[in-house]
Amino acid sequence: MSPVLVGLLGFTGTVGSALLPPLIEAHKSNKIDLVILHRESSNTSQIPSDLGITFRAVQLDDKGEKKNREAVKDLEVVISALGATAIDSQKYLIEALAGSSKLKTFIPSDFGFTFTEEELSYPALKPLQLKKEIADIAGKMNVPITNVRVGLFDYYFYAYKFAGTDVKENTVEVYHDALKNPLRITSLAYLGHAITQLSLRPSAIAGKTIALYDLQPTGQEIIDVLTKIHGKPTKVTDYTDEQYEKDMGDLVSAISASVKLKWGDNSWAKEEKVEVDGWKNKSFEELTRAFLKGN
Ligand SMILES: *[C@@H]1O[C@H](CO)[C@@H](O)[C@H](O)[C@H]1NC(C)=O
Ligand SMILES: *[C@@H]1O[C@H](CO)[C@@H](O)[C@H](O)[C@H]1NC(C)=O
Repeated sequence: MSPVLVGLLGFTGTVGSALLPPLIEAHKSNKIDLVILHRESSNTSQIPSDLGITFRAVQLDDKGEKKNREAVKDLEVVISALGATAIDSQKYLIEALAGSSKLKTFIPSDFGFTFTEEELSYPALKPLQLKKEIADIAGKMNVPITNVRVGLFDYYFYAYKFAGTDVKENTVEVYHDALKNPLRITSLAYLGHAITQLSLRPSAIAGKTIALYDLQPTGQEIIDVLTKIHGKPTKVTDYTDEQYEKDMGDLVSAISASVKLKWGDNSWAKEEKVEVDGWKNKSFEELTRAFLKGN
């Protein structure tokens, strides 16, 4: 089988940095031909120049159409990992992809949760509407896309304590029925591996919304692991409805509060959970021990 031509836009952020190494590996083993799409001004020197990876500049504004079309014309899969402030500029990429006879699927930069209408009705979460608008633009222009939804990134769970668990301090915050419900966690390493694997069979994911997560410990399982690791009881506190309402007032804390609610009520969206080959699951305990060791 000839390698799949895969373009990656945005290789530096949280998601882009997770995607780059496995994509480079797949390029090295000739499963894909990797094309790095970058802004003229971006520094690409961290990407090896001796592997035959192609670099193409794009210009995501009103004047870039010709250049962008040239940059993406032969690509079969295009993955965008642009950061939150650049979500809107993907419309120029979609414009360039419209009408492509080669494109199997475009994966826009979502890599978030499926938010409910009710959640999106909180003004603080309004910026997230942009991701939906981008998907709508692609729909209107008949550009095939794959929406990738995730669980809480491991990094956010551990370093930012986004679910209210502090593994270092041995504390767990519990909202509603979180003790018995699963928290969906997506390790960034898994995300990179999964997206790379899925790029090899793009027709299977075109036009779909899929969910990628590799761990789903319940609150009780998290407590048991922390109690075992620390050798003393985990401190358990309640997250209250009052605190939830308060947290829904600001973008970052509202995303965290939404995770707590999905976990507490097990109200995760029911997207298709996709499985991929070649991933060796780490257990929650292994992942936690690795985090504690690295700190
Ligand atoms: C580009 O990034 C490399 C490290 O990846 C750094 O050494 C170099 O100084 C950077 N160049 C510029 C012009 O910023
Ligand atoms: C890895 O974990 C996920 C989430 O718990 C599960 O759905 C999947 O089947 C597991 N895969 C393996 C190979 O154990």
